[in-house]
Amino acid sequence: MDKMIYLDNGATSFPKPEAVYKYMDHFYRNYGVNPGRSGYDLCIESGEVVENTRKQLTKFFNGTDPDRLCFSYNSTDSLNLVINGILEKGDHAVTTNVEHNSVLRPLYHQSKYNGVEVDYISADSKGFVNPDDFPKKFKKNTKLVIVNHASNVIGTIQPIKEIGKYCREKGILFAVDASQSSGKIPVDMEEQNIDIVVFTGHKSLLGPTGIGGLYVREGVEIRHTRAGGTGVRSAVKTHLFEYPFRLEYGTLNSVGVAGLYKGVEWVEEKGIHNIHEHEMKLTTMLRDGLKDTEGVTLYCQDDLTDHIGIFLFNVAGFESLNVGTLLDVDYNIACRTGLHCAPLIHVHIGTADIHGAVRLGVGPFNTEADVKTTIDAVKEIALMKQK
Ligand code: ALA
Repeated sequence: MDKMIYLDNGATSFPKPEAVYKYMDHFYRNYGVNPGRSGYDLCIESGEVVENTRKQLTKFFNGTDPDRLCFSYNSTDSLNLVINGILEKGDHAVTTNVEHNSVLRPLYHQSKYNGVEVDYISADSKGFVNPDDFPKKFKKNTKLVIVNHASNVIGTIQPIKEIGKYCREKGILFAVDASQSSGKIPVDMEEQNIDIVVFTGHKSLLGPTGIGGLYVREGVEIRHTRAGGTGVRSAVKTHLFEYPFRLEYGTLNSVGVAGLYKGVEWVEEKGIHNIHEHEMKLTTMLRDGLKDTEGVTLYCQDDLTDHIGIFLFNVAGFESLNVGTLLDVDYNIACRTGLHCAPLIHVHIGTADIHGAVRLGVGPFNTEADVKTTIDAVKEIALMKQK
């Protein structure tokens, strides 16, 4: 069978740029000591890679202070630090029904176990929230608003700048989950009124798994919810207050940081506008190729303005899981089916009751040939039930 067509870039980007593999190998062989823990040359050199990556990502998100760029393991890890380090009993938070479980579950835990109130803004039928709905939910005790920048299920890009403006006016902290957007569309702390941006390294920033982080704007304070080694000022009994140590615990995934550095460098060299344009061209091909196919239902793909390359559909007469199996086994096409860890948006579009939908996630290395083969495959599957 031909080479696999990988259309599961919403789950993780694959493959990575060659430079990522090469540099991770080089870094780990030559600088794989524990950065920031000692004063010998190799330790300092390894630490420089980490600090250069902080600077690179601070610039990437248009932050001001690289010490406020903290590394974590992934977006879920960062979002737990944010949600549990900001909210306290009696607080109120506002989020949306487009969120991933990395936001929904920590917030649910806060409401169930810690007396935090949570309100959910609903997207419209096209998958977009209206920024004007946010201030209607604000109360005296609203402390945090968290919004998914680009949906991992339907691909819609939310109007974060406008939402951030409302939050800024009321002094409410505004956190953006940029898991799917960073590396595809601009994420700009200043321009978009963001207080905290959360990212993962392994999706469109093209780094490896196990590395992510957050940038915390100056003046924003997040409490410790963990404590442990920082490599410096070991005699202090409590976890260190200053960033980045405040939100970093134990030995960093330094080889992950190194890979992320090269992933972001690749994105910058290509230009995120070019990457996005390429991915949207392919997503538009998918949409146009499948929109009038009998038995195929598309979700939120009518107008692809303000979308990333995430394409969601179902085929009449099939569970999404079975379409995924057919695509995999008969056509060697990789996708993700089911609820995609984002149950509320599936409820909203009516796919929760039918066990979800099929998601194709387009990436920078996909080609028009990949898309043509996939359109033909889905059309053949749709015909199976009609025979
Ligand atoms: N959050 C990832 C996805 O949507 C894993 O598939």
